[in-house]
Amino acid sequence: MSENIFNLIAWIWICVAVVTFISLFFVTAPYGRHTQEKGWGKLIDNRLGWVLMEIPSFILILVFAIIGDLSNYALMLAILWLLHYFNRTFIFPLRLRTKGKKMPLSIVFSAIFFNGINAGMNGYFLAYFETYTDASFSNPLFFVGISLFFIGAIINNVSDHILINLRKPNETEYKIPHGFLYRYVSCPNFLGEMIQWSGFAVMAWNLPAFTFCVWTIANVLPRALKHHKWYKEKFDEYPKERKAVIPFTW
Ligand SMILES: NC(=O)c1ccc[n+]([C@@H]2O[C@H](COP(=O)([O-])OP(=O)(O)OC[C@H]3O[C@@H](n4cnc5c(N)ncnc54)[C@H](OP(=O)(O)O)[C@@H]3O)[C@@H](O)[C@H]2O)c1
Repeated sequence: MSENIFNLIAWIWICVAVVTFISLFFVTAPYGRHTQEKGWGKLIDNRLGWVLMEIPSFILILVFAIIGDLSNYALMLAILWLLHYFNRTFIFPLRLRTKGKKMPLSIVFSAIFFNGINAGMNGYFLAYFETYTDASFSNPLFFVGISLFFIGAIINNVSDHILINLRKPNETEYKIPHGFLYRYVSCPNFLGEMIQWSGFAVMAWNLPAFTFCVWTIANVLPRALKHHKWYKEKFDEYPKERKAVIPFTW
């Protein structure tokens, strides 16, 4: 595939992300607290759903990293991606306290599609179009990007850890999270995810990484607003000063 065709596909995929972003203000993705038993087809076990949804992101980057002749910088990007998705695919689902909970297979298939295209595009770029050199490691974009990536990853993981541990092993109900960035926002895990992939896009400075960052924001920002509204409706004592996802703002 020529790079022009590749870039055209990436821009079309960004347009799809923008449409998805707008749609998600009107339709809530039905998993987790927003799961609907009816109207979204067959349901499968929640943990299995997470593994199936995330596995394309791990496997595709791994395959392109193996078949491509990656520079050191591209290899570093692939390793960061793989570290995140090893956790998200194989560790995160096992830690979830969602015993007996299910998610619609339709959501699983749409996530496989979304993750497959994003990881496929990022992997393909690293395998066939990258032009990084070792000098890329001294570029300011690397320092800014990797800092954002790790700050975001820490915020995301600490926040998810707090949420997961709100429940005792066999509980499935919801509680109000406290501490860390929950003092400021309802969904610091989504804030961390957005910072992390913005950092990756800055570090990688290529169209598919930017595309994935746009897709991440398109997915998690509307979900954060829905979670925030849900918390305020469910808990009368929910902290009034807490925002949805951006401290002091939104
Ligand atoms: N890159 C992307 O496009 C993208 C898209 C979506 C998600 N993600 C990431 O994937 C991770 C999980 O996403 P998510 O939408 O499942 O997050 P979530 O709704 O915040 O839930 C995370 C986990 O914590 C549990 N939980 C949440 N709030 C709770 C509460 N108040 N009390 C007790 N347990 C609670 C949930 O249980 P239940 O399942 O029972 O609700 C779930 O197991 C996040 O780190 C997110 O950033 C990334």
